[in-house]
Amino acid sequence: MKIKDCIDPTSKIFFHPEILTKFLNGNRVYPISIEMDLSDQCNLKCNWCRYAEGHKPNVMNLQLAKKILWEAQSLGVKSVVYSGGGEPLLNPEFELITEIANRAGLDQGIYTNGCFIDTQIKPLSHLMKFVYISLDAATKETYERTKHSDEFERVLHNTRTLAEQKRKARVGLGFLVSPENSDEIEAFADFLDRFDIDYIHYRPAITSDINKRWLRSVIRRLQKIEGPRTLVANYKFQDLLNDGKRTYKECFGHYFLSGITADGSVWLCLNHRYHEQFKLGDANTETLYEIWRGKRIREVKKRLDISKCPILCRPHELNKVLDTLIKDNEHANFL
Ligand SMILES: C[S@@+](CC[C@H](N)C(=O)[O-])C[C@H]1O[C@@H](n2cnc3c(N)ncnc32)[C@H](O)[C@@H]1O
Ligand code: SF4
Repeated sequence: MKIKDCIDPTSKIFFHPEILTKFLNGNRVYPISIEMDLSDQCNLKCNWCRYAEGHKPNVMNLQLAKKILWEAQSLGVKSVVYSGGGEPLLNPEFELITEIANRAGLDQGIYTNGCFIDTQIKPLSHLMKFVYISLDAATKETYERTKHSDEFERVLHNTRTLAEQKRKARVGLGFLVSPENSDEIEAFADFLDRFDIDYIHYRPAITSDINKRWLRSVIRRLQKIEGPRTLVANYKFQDLLNDGKRTYKECFGHYFLSGITADGSVWLCLNHRYHEQFKLGDANTETLYEIWRGKRIREVKKRLDISKCPILCRPHELNKVLDTLIKDNEHANFL
């Protein structure tokens, strides 16, 4: 499989034709993937962090994680992604949680800032299908200026160690492009071979005050270095150029991709985490079946005005695909 196809979300839903057909026939489906925040704590303070306002001491406890993972598996969920809130490797039960998910037969992947990889080499190298390391800088100076931490060398060392020891995990370095680090776009591309990783990946930092001229010049520079393992999230850069305008009227992506925070709350979508009006339920006291089938989901959806949702939200690409499929197309038979 090409590494680009591992990362690009635009057509992955077509690998699940039965679930998609069920949905298109008007039936309720359960998520294919869950995103689980293992920790709301973070050791860094990235200037652009979209989730910083939710940083707090919560970490998900082992019993709760176990309940969620087994219930998810019983409803047909196929994968779990550990990401933000904060830094997932700050959860002291990380290894045990990944072993449970593995026993439940779930595919696992993680977004991490990379600082604590050295404490979790075994689960990361043996049990993850992907490890995405958000490095976002090519020099120590830029790293320290944008993340307010001196862990740059440690993350590089950890990246090399993991790349050497990994089994099935695809290991990549991420670069969130912002005006604060864009001078280093080209220098970062050298990390692909220096660290013997599977890929590097450029995405835009999503903020409300994007300078379009700057963004266009970034896109041109990225086009020059893009390659089979030097990946650029072009769909995100183009969407941002277009102010993240939505072409769809309703969010259906949340039926396929569910989000659960470290305290056990299940949300319509993690872009709305900790906004009570978008909470679907509490996995501490309810089953995922009750939460995903319950009537609260309809009530929350009635309150949802997607024009007020953050731009380029997590289910955005999926929503675009689903919108195309649910619209009538009287020429659909002309292939
Ligand atoms: C919130 S972090 C949590 C996991 C881990 N702490 C990390 O940094 O990878 C998850 C991902 O969100 C990305 N992210 C944070 N703020 C963002 C923003 N404003 N725009 C786009 N992505 C953002 C990070 O780069 C990271 O890859
Ligand atoms: S490391 Fe991740 S969660 Fe922590 S501040 Fe940076 S982007 Fe946010």
